[in-house]
Amino acid sequence: MNINYNYNNLKESYLFSLIDKKLNEYKAQNPGKDAIRLGIGDVTLPLAPVIVEAMQRAVLEMGERSTFRGYGEEQGYAFLRQAVCAYYAKKGVALSDSEVFISDGAKSDLGNILDIFSINNTVLIPDPVYPVYVDTNIMAGRKIIYVNGNEENSFLPLPDKNVKADIIYLCSPNNPTGAVYNKKQLESWVSYALEQDAVILFDSAYEIFIQDQSLPTSVYQIEGARKCAIEFCSLSKTAGFTGTRCGYTVIPHELNRDQVSLNKLWLRRQTTKFNGVPYIVQRGAEAVFSDEGLNQIKANIAYYMQNAKLIANTLKKLGIWSIGGENSPYIWLKCTDGMSSWDFFDYLLTQFGIVGTPGAGFGANGEGFFRLTAFGDRGNILRAMGKLTRHGDQTM
Ligand code: MLT
Repeated sequence: MNINYNYNNLKESYLFSLIDKKLNEYKAQNPGKDAIRLGIGDVTLPLAPVIVEAMQRAVLEMGERSTFRGYGEEQGYAFLRQAVCAYYAKKGVALSDSEVFISDGAKSDLGNILDIFSINNTVLIPDPVYPVYVDTNIMAGRKIIYVNGNEENSFLPLPDKNVKADIIYLCSPNNPTGAVYNKKQLESWVSYALEQDAVILFDSAYEIFIQDQSLPTSVYQIEGARKCAIEFCSLSKTAGFTGTRCGYTVIPHELNRDQVSLNKLWLRRQTTKFNGVPYIVQRGAEAVFSDEGLNQIKANIAYYMQNAKLIANTLKKLGIWSIGGENSPYIWLKCTDGMSSWDFFDYLLTQFGIVGTPGAGFGANGEGFFRLTAFGDRGNILRAMGKLTRHGDQTM
């Protein structure tokens, strides 16, 4: 018997589990002291009323013999897949419902999609980025190469034609930096992928936060992407589904490799290993995409964007370098006094009771940087920013 020894190559804990562990230690050592959580990007506003009503109706249906439902289609109910297509149509992207797969969130699909790719593929991952891309490929034992995001390229690295890659991860708006690729930059990734015969795994989990209308919210707004990209999105941040769980993955029918349709492979994979998202949740998700649903969730997004502005303005006032927050719920800042990311984490926690996420947790290029999330409660954000401002005033 052999275990999967690739797991030995992982860091001991997943980033956000490690942060939780450190926070619990802090709380045990400092009873009664509170901590303002601006670390993991977990939403704080409740589900919009139209979503709750849709789920309540679905619960009642499940309690009636005539409307009860057992197993659903593994790829999601047609009513939800069609609702996703209608949402994309508003972005100028035409999809057919057989190109949409409903899941319990982008994180699972981003990991599970690797089932349909050979272990011999080389994976290209921007650094810094959401740690799931790296960890899932380490677990599988795939070769990983990195493309560097840094201050010089505004944390928006572009492809190097001399580098050979088979699978490319892109996240825009980026987690953790909040940077967003413009159309021209995404075009260069799409043409690189087409030249290399590579597949882009495009994570658009934060697309709803894009305020600048000129920025792409889907990779399929770029010509040629249907032949080289899979898009992953989630309702976690879009509609407050972090606890409710629902997302979707788009695989266009034109996306073939070795004359094999990746859509078919994924359907085969999902029908074998996945039994779908609960009917009640899918009815809630359908309501997200209704006109009323989109209006209600936009109010929540505006609340988070106002939080982002409060954080960014405070950092600016304090003279701390930062990006993000304009088209994303994350603010990426430079640690003060040349501190390392984890030292800065300890400093913010012990001095101000603020929990953030160390940039080093997102890759080597994140060292010396730090991420704050705008998903917190407004009162807590104001309290946290007040503490930083008062400290800044005293030391200036
Ligand atoms: C984050 O804080 O980066 C995200 O909430 C993690 C996730 O979506 O899994």
